[in-house]
Amino acid sequence: MPNEKLVLTHRPRRLRRFASRRAMVEETVLRPADLIAPLFVVDGSPAPEEIGSMPGVFRLAIADLVKECQEIFALGVPAVALFPKLDPKLKDENGTEALNPQTLILRAVRAVKQAVPELSIITDVALDPYTSHGHDGVLNAEKDNVDNDRTVAILAQMAVMQAEAGVDFVAPSDMMDGRVGAIRKALDAAGYTDTAIMAYSVKYNSAYYGPFRDAVGSAQAAGTRLLSKATYQMNPANRREAIREMQLDVAEGADVVMVKPAGAYLDIIREVRNATRTPVAAYQVSGEYSQIHAAARLGWLDLVRTRHESLLAIKRAGADMILTYFAKDIAKAYKG
Ligand code: PBG
Repeated sequence: MPNEKLVLTHRPRRLRRFASRRAMVEETVLRPADLIAPLFVVDGSPAPEEIGSMPGVFRLAIADLVKECQEIFALGVPAVALFPKLDPKLKDENGTEALNPQTLILRAVRAVKQAVPELSIITDVALDPYTSHGHDGVLNAEKDNVDNDRTVAILAQMAVMQAEAGVDFVAPSDMMDGRVGAIRKALDAAGYTDTAIMAYSVKYNSAYYGPFRDAVGSAQAAGTRLLSKATYQMNPANRREAIREMQLDVAEGADVVMVKPAGAYLDIIREVRNATRTPVAAYQVSGEYSQIHAAARLGWLDLVRTRHESLLAIKRAGADMILTYFAKDIAKAYKG
């Protein structure tokens, strides 16, 4: 048989011949500046405590958190999202501790802001770390639903306190209706016109949050049959509704809109990206991180390649920035 050449007009492989040539046509690049590191803070001065379901992720005392933030910023990661793990004794039905001017998260923010002023600090505005039932808001009189409007009033106060402590982006993660508008109004009235809002606009009621709830000890609500987070977080079956939620938050004044989780919702990230000019963030949540680690531990997946691919996919889908527990690892690998 002579070596017959196919008559082909198109041979895409020409552009894949060498790494150098593949780089010429590479469409998506992941860089440390795209990433936001979520970090967990605890009170007192315990040694860093690893979260069982999240290998390599620790609950940090404020002093250790400050060091971690310095390292992360030096590696080129521009922002952190801070989450408090509260002493269960401080929790009650109404999440009263959230409005304590000396509460853990506010002390943590002040310390980090002082040490690394140019690192952007993002804090959740939601009551789940503070409520004994673990819901993101306060309950109504019948205790069979989260009271939207009373919760929004508390969230607006929380946001002002966070801004006062030095937070750069307040991040309502509660999915109450009207909270972005109420928070913008409260921030402006208090003079915090430069504090931005990163809205968890499209937040699904997801099983992928499991390890996070271990991390902050807010697991109770997930298992409450009568009152599920599904009464405020979105149904994973819905796509049109994602655009609606995003548009409402943009209209109410969100500076950045977020899709969460990320990996199982790449179609949503793309739709949101195409439907707005507002920057889009995506949150690669705890369960996405844990499943990659679990498979790697079993020897079934290559950790370094899988984590990179998982984040590249999120960026390719349209995210301008990605919250990920891999942020520091990726930034280190990028530095080489
Ligand atoms: C709480 C909040 C959650 C996450 C971020 N903020 C969990 C929840 O809604 O129960 C999840 C983050 C993760 O899983 O990494 N408002």
